Amino acid sequence: MQPSLLEELTPVPNPYPVVADISMQEVWSLCEKARDLAWDPAKIDFGDLVSADLPAEVRAAGAEWWSLRAWMEHGATPYGAERLRDAIFSHEPFEVKQHIVNFIAEELRHHEASFRVAQALGGYQASPRSDYFQSIIPRFHDEREERQMSFYAGLAVNTLFEQLSGELLQARYENARFESIKEACRLILRDEARHVQFGRIIMRRHFGELADADKQLLGQKVSKKLRGSLLNGVYAVVNLPDDERARAGRARALAAEYGLGATHPDEEMGIIKRALDRIRADVAPWGVEIPEIPELDGAAIQH
Ligand SMILES: [Fe+2]
Ligand SMILES: [Fe+2]
Repeated sequence: MQPSLLEELTPVPNPYPVVADISMQEVWSLCEKARDLAWDPAKIDFGDLVSADLPAEVRAAGAEWWSLRAWMEHGATPYGAERLRDAIFSHEPFEVKQHIVNFIAEELRHHEASFRVAQALGGYQASPRSDYFQSIIPRFHDEREERQMSFYAGLAVNTLFEQLSGELLQARYENARFESIKEACRLILRDEARHVQFGRIIMRRHFGELADADKQLLGQKVSKKLRGSLLNGVYAVVNLPDDERARAGRARALAAEYGLGATHPDEEMGIIKRALDRIRADVAPWGVEIPEIPELDGAAIQH
């Protein structure tokens, strides 16, 4: 290579010391579990969905729903990639890097399991058909918001959302009347439980040292993300524009009625509210307060 070309290469931060010590044994145990409990979405038999006697509109609703799930799961991978980069260049312990690598691989296989369900139901949609959804999914992960938090505070916030989406997925698992969908939900839930567990370890180890301003910021980030993107059609349809809310809500209701591993829009808000209350109780001992979210905390919500 020409010396002049070498000069144009982007300098890589010093990789040394490359740390090999395990300093968080509990995180390492999660990594070992991840290795033991690895699974392959391609090995799930989706034949029950292909041969099911379902009306065309139900197949379309199910395919739309599982495509949305696939986009959501995929939304965790750019977030994971940024965190992995941070972990590598800030010389975090080996097991933290390994956990994030596992996290990315696991979210990607949740994405794969979801698009395989959509394919078996009638077709995976690679991008949302409505303009609205095209703009909302990219907002799922906003790196500018992440950068305002410290590395470990950001990881902890993310796992609070894992807890919320886990509660919703549990209801979708219970709704599923097809073996393949039930199996996919069960295996995804098992991975998500480890992601939640990681968050608990991180909170225990790092929340005690957070400054009050950081704790306040953290709570605000949770409310903002919930209101700004997750209630806008991702976790629930409540903040969608009226026409899209009616359409997406109908599709979800139909998918739920036929046991395709979906939740009825009317029950979603109650599930999220209960999960949010549990999260508030979990973070309260650390002095982290999640500000009021009118859509969830307002008196109109039945729970
Ligand atoms: Fe996931
Ligand atoms: Fe996850």
